[in-house]
Amino acid sequence: MAAIEKPTGPDLQELDREHHLHPFTDHKELHEKKSRIITSADGVYIFDSDGNKILDGMSGLWCVNAGYGRDEIVDAAAAQMRKLPYYNNFFQCAHPPSIELAAMLQEISQPQFNRVFFAGSGSESNDTIVRAVRRYWDLMDQPERQTIISRKNAYHGSTVAAASLGGMTPMHKQGGLIPGIEHVEQPYWFGSDRSLSPDEFGIATARSIEDKINEVGPGKIAAFIGEPVQGAGGVIIPPDSYWPEVQRICDEYGILLISDEVICGFGRMGEWFGADYYGTRPDFMPFAKGVTSGYLPLGGVMISDRVADVLIDKGGEFYHGYTYSGHPASCAVAIENIRILQRENLVERVKNDIGPYLKKGWDKLAEHPLVGEARMVGLLGALELVKTKEPMERFEEKQGVGTICRDFLINNGLVMRAVGDTMVAAPPFILSYEEADELIEKAWKCLDLTQQAIA
Ligand SMILES: Cc1ncc(COP(=O)(O)O)c(C=O)c1O
Repeated sequence: MAAIEKPTGPDLQELDREHHLHPFTDHKELHEKKSRIITSADGVYIFDSDGNKILDGMSGLWCVNAGYGRDEIVDAAAAQMRKLPYYNNFFQCAHPPSIELAAMLQEISQPQFNRVFFAGSGSESNDTIVRAVRRYWDLMDQPERQTIISRKNAYHGSTVAAASLGGMTPMHKQGGLIPGIEHVEQPYWFGSDRSLSPDEFGIATARSIEDKINEVGPGKIAAFIGEPVQGAGGVIIPPDSYWPEVQRICDEYGILLISDEVICGFGRMGEWFGADYYGTRPDFMPFAKGVTSGYLPLGGVMISDRVADVLIDKGGEFYHGYTYSGHPASCAVAIENIRILQRENLVERVKNDIGPYLKKGWDKLAEHPLVGEARMVGLLGALELVKTKEPMERFEEKQGVGTICRDFLINNGLVMRAVGDTMVAAPPFILSYEEADELIEKAWKCLDLTQQAIA
């Protein structure tokens, strides 16, 4: 068969403009510009169609944790596709990769987790949770427990249920919401008036969950959901006092705790899961992204014995599942990816080696006049851009300082993301010391360029 001629460079940009509506994009704005076409990647670098080499400080979308160019993962996918490219896990069937991965996930997660329900993405995982939580309480003869408490500025995905669980106001204004979700304060100390110490603030924001429980009525609350560290909201690392108090509240009121591990899971914080880092004992852990290092789509939910035993003992069909729940090639990729994380001790590397190394440089960025706070846990970091440090004053939103900085960064060979004026980073776990130095040097340079541009 003759090879199909693939357009490159400018032709691709033109085709993209004419035929492709991108996710989370102002389509009018992009239509007037050209998109950047990423054509290949290796290690921690991506390459675009103009020949630029760019350090990917975001691991794609917080997912390519094992780095690009992993032939073992590609081979695992190809071998699985040759053998069994697709079969479902419906109708009392399963296949070796979904079973093997399920057993592997049990081994790396907390003891209460012996079972997994597969999905295709983080959003689908959280949709699964909404249905599973309510199913659980129905089976427990407490069907009035419907309400799930979440947090303002949380991100749990983009389907209707996941967007409702999330706390992003602009998303809430589009497409409608499902009922039965309540939002409470986020543990964002830097964004508060800082009249409380971080620990006091952590306790106070956790108690806003308790206030909400009492406002709605404890008998009506099904669950609380939170990301261990809020990622898309701006890498909001809660004060140490926060999660223990959340756990206390969930225990006291008997409500289910959901730790959304879509970003934090699979080593991002230097532990297998964010729940391990904070010492919580969740009932559900939705995951996606890092489970396959993004090589193929896969999501899922670790379901604790507390819930799974009820589903199994009480029986009755749970009318829920996706065509690609536990797709064989995605599961084969996840198995190989987890083996790589284990074989190369990458989770440990994030905790004791490259994580602390990068943090040293990251902390120095706090000395830059534009940076009001530099925070990092594992390989998950944020820089707060401010107008003045003492007294601390933030820029007006309309100045778009974060976006200006982000554009300087990518044009100077480094991907970081702007969440308002908070610059966030989450590089691959294979980042070398030299690449970490490059990341810090480029970040400093682009902070300088941003400062000059807004002067
Ligand atoms: C914490 C969290 N949950 C859920 C999701 C949704 O995942 P997906 O984009 O795979 O649907 C994301 C995506 O960024 C996330 O950060």
